Amino acid sequence: MIIGICNDHAGVEYKERLVKYLEGKGHQVVNFGTDSTDSCDYADFAHPLALAVESGKVDKGIAICGTGNGMAITLNKHQGIRAGLAWNTAIAKLVKGHNNANVLVMPARFASYRMVVSMVREWLATEFEGGRHARRIEKIPVR
Ligand code: RB5
Repeated sequence: MIIGICNDHAGVEYKERLVKYLEGKGHQVVNFGTDSTDSCDYADFAHPLALAVESGKVDKGIAICGTGNGMAITLNKHQGIRAGLAWNTAIAKLVKGHNNANVLVMPARFASYRMVVSMVREWLATEFEGGRHARRIEKIPVR
């Protein structure tokens, strides 16, 4: 799978560790985030990731900032993006199973790296349940 990843300064360390983890699992990772811990603006990295997911350049996306909210708010401005913020494995599973999130967003300052890896593993392993959840996500886009 080709996975796009983006982060601001708060997410650099977790991004670097996740890239190694994902590549170790055989995925190709495209880095849209900053590699510097200098203060920066999450939207500068969220938009390129969103465009890559929407265009199919990458299959899925992962986004990390301090709270996750800046990334989630920005990503969800894109019609083709369902970015779900998760902070534990149950939510990471549900955000795929129920919301078919094509971007998983996580809060670097409020989740351990161990939890972040568990969330990514769960989200990647979970299938969208469809059914009533398909009907619900079809109503999300602003037409
Ligand atoms: C950066 O300090 C912080 O504002 C950012 O990482 C994120 O939490 C914003 O939503």
